Amino acid sequence: MISRPLKLGEPLIKLETVDSTNDYATNLLRTENAGEGTVILADYQSLGKGRGNNRWQSEKGQNLLFSIIFKPDFLRADKQFYLSMGISNGIAELVEKIAGNSKIKWPNDIFLNNKKVAGILIENTIMKDKLYTSVAGIGLNVNQQIFSPDLTDAISLYQVTGKKYDLFDVLNDLLRLITKTLEPLYSGDYGTLKIAYLNRLFRLNEWTRLADSSGMFEGRIVDIGESGELLVEKHKGQITPYSFGEIKFG
Ligand code: BTN
Repeated sequence: MISRPLKLGEPLIKLETVDSTNDYATNLLRTENAGEGTVILADYQSLGKGRGNNRWQSEKGQNLLFSIIFKPDFLRADKQFYLSMGISNGIAELVEKIAGNSKIKWPNDIFLNNKKVAGILIENTIMKDKLYTSVAGIGLNVNQQIFSPDLTDAISLYQVTGKKYDLFDVLNDLLRLITKTLEPLYSGDYGTLKIAYLNRLFRLNEWTRLADSSGMFEGRIVDIGESGELLVEKHKGQITPYSFGEIKFG
């Protein structure tokens, strides 16, 4: 068990334009051994990265684009998904506070009104069997009024509430909430973290159309495995674990 205070946003590095705040953070770790809690915030990213080979697009100055440096050296590599859960829980709480019911779509997309309001890209380094550094990049759509037509899945807080937000206020609130939702991770209480995550998990326990490498099927998400895999029940009762990229919602 580890108990140490987590201070997010000290220091806060503000940039106008950068390729990717995640890459900037990774570079800071390499060149200056930047400390835990360092936050890099940008108005615009020329090469914003999404999970897989995706890009993260965001209109200049409208949304939150930032990365947080963590050094969770107590966290076993095979439990790294718990960090992702804690961060997802914090963002989902913030979205709910501002705009109402929010869901987490596995593994860590934050959904509002069935569309994606925030995405998280976590890049870890591992030493022996523990996490060494972790860069958690967060894109939260705040004030953007229109998304390009190819982003049919995207939504902003503004589009739901009709209100514009001060990005610094939202960032401060969000950092406070993530600090809170990560507390159980830092105190070794993985069970609490997972319960909070499952409480908001999109389509948990609902029979729904899913697709894997053998095609479409009806399945039901029943749990998350210890390494973050999605546990899906099929009609015959067997439970299959899926890793990221192996399953899609139909
Ligand atoms: C995803 O849903 O695919 C993850 C998107 C993560 C986007 C954020 S924006 C700030 C940080 N810097 C990046 O290049 N990506 C993350």
